[in-house]
Amino acid sequence: MQTLSLSNGNVLPAIGLGTWKTKRGEAAVAVEAALETGYRHFDCATIYKNEAEIGEVFHRWLSSGRIRREELFITSKLWNNAHLAKHVRPALERTLRELQLDFLDLYLIHWPVSFSADCDHPKRAEQYLPPDDNRLMATWHAMEKLVHRGLLRGIGVSNCKRSRLQQLFTAADIKPAVLQVECHPYLQQRQLLDWCRKKNVAVTAFAPLGSGDRPENIRNADVLELLDHPVLQKIAKETGRTPAAVALAWNLARGVAVIPKSIHPARLQENLQAVSLSLSPSQRERIDQLNCGLRLIDGSPFCSKKSPYSLDWLWTDTA
Ligand SMILES: NC(=O)c1ccc[n+]([C@@H]2O[C@H](COP(=O)([O-])OP(=O)(O)OC[C@H]3O[C@@H](n4cnc5c(N)ncnc54)[C@H](OP(=O)(O)O)[C@@H]3O)[C@@H](O)[C@H]2O)c1
Repeated sequence: MQTLSLSNGNVLPAIGLGTWKTKRGEAAVAVEAALETGYRHFDCATIYKNEAEIGEVFHRWLSSGRIRREELFITSKLWNNAHLAKHVRPALERTLRELQLDFLDLYLIHWPVSFSADCDHPKRAEQYLPPDDNRLMATWHAMEKLVHRGLLRGIGVSNCKRSRLQQLFTAADIKPAVLQVECHPYLQQRQLLDWCRKKNVAVTAFAPLGSGDRPENIRNADVLELLDHPVLQKIAKETGRTPAAVALAWNLARGVAVIPKSIHPARLQENLQAVSLSLSPSQRERIDQLNCGLRLIDGSPFCSKKSPYSLDWLWTDTA
């Protein structure tokens, strides 16, 4: 398995299994099949509401000795309603309990937007906490403490623009090891990747296949689904592979880790085998030309009229 070396000395398998939208009743089957197929990196999150089911599978494999904990790389994410420093440890402990683990390899701040503790998805204005970079820094310092306590091997962030990442990087005692962001041929994130390369922050691409099963409320009818794009389809024909394998191989060739989600064994295999697909320079260039800055998962549900956050605040770099 191709790997990425992290700044904290750990090693991240370049392909992991995404678990967002994997429903209860499907999650255990998908994770079991993924382990059988050879996946060792799993991308989880509290808000996906399936960690307990996934934890059952980890427990079975670990307790029977089919796998050793050191062979796994498990990520989870702190949800937006647990940013206050006093909520960070209880949130992690719940995730560890559900996943039936003693530590995580990576814990990410899921989004930089903060909600009050009593709600997963705010519906009223008072359920948001106002934007506050100091609070986010306090969240980070609370996560650093959990590294010192041995509950976390690594920490990082997700959905952060460069200037926010830079700010955090400057004030952090433990630098973010990983940035997880949306990244695929429509949204190539070149400047962000350059910055991360210079600072030795590894990048994991979410929605690397274009998140074809993203929820209806964030779906734009005009978008040509990534895997249906004629350029990916043509390169798939040329290489005898699939558009999914081509999209993954393109990110891997840029040194970016990918966490495609699937619940189907054949696709799990196909996605994992993307490591063996080597695209030619001209094939990579044709995919490079698909960049159009299209963000499929832009956080718009957190930026409604009732929210103090905006898409500009989330994504536009000021300098
Ligand atoms: N940090 C964040 O805020 C954030 C946001 C979004 C996602 N993520 C993480 O990133 C992971 C991946 O993103 P995603 O789930 O949005 O989208 P994705 O992995 O880009 O796409 C998933 C979709 O592709 C289909 N698929 C998978 N393999 C395929 C193949 N070989 N051929 C054709 N279709 C295939 C899946 O269907 P089937 O399942 O039916 O196979 C599903 O509909 C998530 O699951 C989550 O772990 C993180």
